[in-house]
Amino acid sequence: MAVCLVVGIGCSRSAPAKAHQSFDAAAWAPPSEAEIPNDSLGASIRRGLALLRFTPESLPTYATSSLRCTSCHELDGRKATAAPLTGAHARFPKYLTRSGAVIALADRVNYCFTRSLAGNAIPSDSREMEDILAYLAFISKGVPIGAKVMGADGLLAMKDTLAGDTARGRVVFETSCIVCHQKDGAGSGAIPALWGAKSYSIGASMARVERAASFISHNMPQTAPGSLTTQQAFDVAAFINSHERPDSPGKDGDWPLGGAPRDVPYATKGHAAFNPPARLVPRGNPQGALVPAPTRIGRTARGAAHD
Ligand code: HEC
Ligand code: HEC
Repeated sequence: MAVCLVVGIGCSRSAPAKAHQSFDAAAWAPPSEAEIPNDSLGASIRRGLALLRFTPESLPTYATSSLRCTSCHELDGRKATAAPLTGAHARFPKYLTRSGAVIALADRVNYCFTRSLAGNAIPSDSREMEDILAYLAFISKGVPIGAKVMGADGLLAMKDTLAGDTARGRVVFETSCIVCHQKDGAGSGAIPALWGAKSYSIGASMARVERAASFISHNMPQTAPGSLTTQQAFDVAAFINSHERPDSPGKDGDWPLGGAPRDVPYATKGHAAFNPPARLVPRGNPQGALVPAPTRIGRTARGAAHD
């Protein structure tokens, strides 16, 4: 086939589009852990997987909460209802309305370090970041650029958006959650905190009641997922998110073009805080919590001096 230099002059865009259409998202599955190769790349993939599973143990200065990546991205990021990471490698760079910018996968990982783990951004050029990216690439094997697999690129949207009632939510918490997450919501051992200094920050997606209700209704209580009604999921999500949690520096710069979802619990451009938590816990290292959106490098006029 002739090389097509100018679309529309004697050639068409149809060839690449067909290749993409032939991908069967429903039949696709990520490779199993046993398929990790036994070479240097495989060693990096294994280290990345270990970082997802044992984040605070591996990176105590960066992951300062009781959460690990797999506290939310359950089953090593392979669970369809728990914000699957399968295919993430093929979805970035991506425009995020929250940042108002096109973001690389490493920056998206750091959003979860700083917001979901309420920790510090890890250096983008670190071996640890390369290892995490190697693992994300591994569980994205064969997914074409931009394709969605396993039904989602985040938590599934809730069909009904209900108003959560914190008083009813307390009852759900005491009946179905307290046994693992403890009376003070702080969890213990492998059970992560739902609120307090060691939980996710106000800037995390989980701090939005609809996002938390989605995670909870599909995945919790861990021993009987799917057993809560939609109303109970919204009630307990509202109860959990009414408690204090770490602040997220720079959050008021989110959605710089406006258009924040209605349940974002802090004020942004054109948006009033929705049911904000009672109190915010200040961060030990606010600077480490920032992942600035990419900025333009300076331009000089053509022919300007090279000094
Ligand atoms: C408190 C829960 C939570 C924790 C902990 C967490 N994440 Fe996330 N993460 C999410 C949610 C929720 C989303 C999707 C956002 C949405 O649905 O609105 C997400 C999205 C992502 C994405 C983008 C996926 C895509 O395809 O768009 C990546 C990559 C990611 N997380 C990596 C990580 C890594 C690596 C860690 C550990 C350092 C981590 N996350 C810890 C909740 C969490
Ligand atoms: C049997 C123990 C158990 C019960 C009961 C339980 N959870 Fe969890 N929960 C976990 C574990 C363990 C995780 C971490 C995910 C994993 O390891 O699979 C988790 C994670 C979470 C997370 C995401 C991480 C975080 O800390 O924010 C939320 C939110 C959550 N649970 C809410 C609830 C709610 C609400 C209930 C009650 C309706 C509940 N859980 C009941 C064990 C439990």
